[in-house]
Amino acid sequence: GPAFENNGSDARSIGNAAEEAEGCTRCDLYKNATQVVFGEGPAKAQVVFVGEQPGDKEDLAGKPFIGPAGKLLDHCLEEAGVDRDLCYVTNAVKHFKFAPRGKRRIHAKPNIGEIQACAFWLATELRLLKPKLAVALGATAAYALLGKQAKVTRDRGTFLSAPTGLPILVTIHPSALLRSMDQPDAELNRARFVEDLRKIREYL
Ligand code: URA
Repeated sequence: GPAFENNGSDARSIGNAAEEAEGCTRCDLYKNATQVVFGEGPAKAQVVFVGEQPGDKEDLAGKPFIGPAGKLLDHCLEEAGVDRDLCYVTNAVKHFKFAPRGKRRIHAKPNIGEIQACAFWLATELRLLKPKLAVALGATAAYALLGKQAKVTRDRGTFLSAPTGLPILVTIHPSALLRSMDQPDAELNRARFVEDLRKIREYL
């Protein structure tokens, strides 16, 4: 099930959990990915951002949200006035899933079994960090945090409650903005994302 149906590991720190996750074989994605990309941020973080899965750059570096989507997220957080020092960033799925196309690796969507297997680690992160809120970036994260109750297009910009009581702000994934940068409504979409992020400040 989603993260709220999971107790996660009994690791006593994020560092220990990350170490433990390095050897994860809970689903098959470890077979082709370079390495586990665990979440990152200060132990005192008050807000946890959950993406889908590491991208190509993150897979190689072993760090989440360092590629184009991460840079865009950082810029939008700055515009929204959210202190990046209070933020922990992670993903619903912690191995990169891709299809080889020539020498490129093309992002592939994690399936429900992979999301559920990896909810063990997301549950561990939430248990240890005890954030004031989490932000679901896109549908995969929304499912991992809230189960089937959440629909990104319907619920974006609103706070839902996980069964554990944790408030979850639902919004789009910054990759969706990158994909639609050539659209006439690109600026508006970005502004709307920043507006969603501004709501985080109510909780900090
Ligand atoms: N997209 C994600 O969902 N997570 C990352 O870490 C990078 C890109």
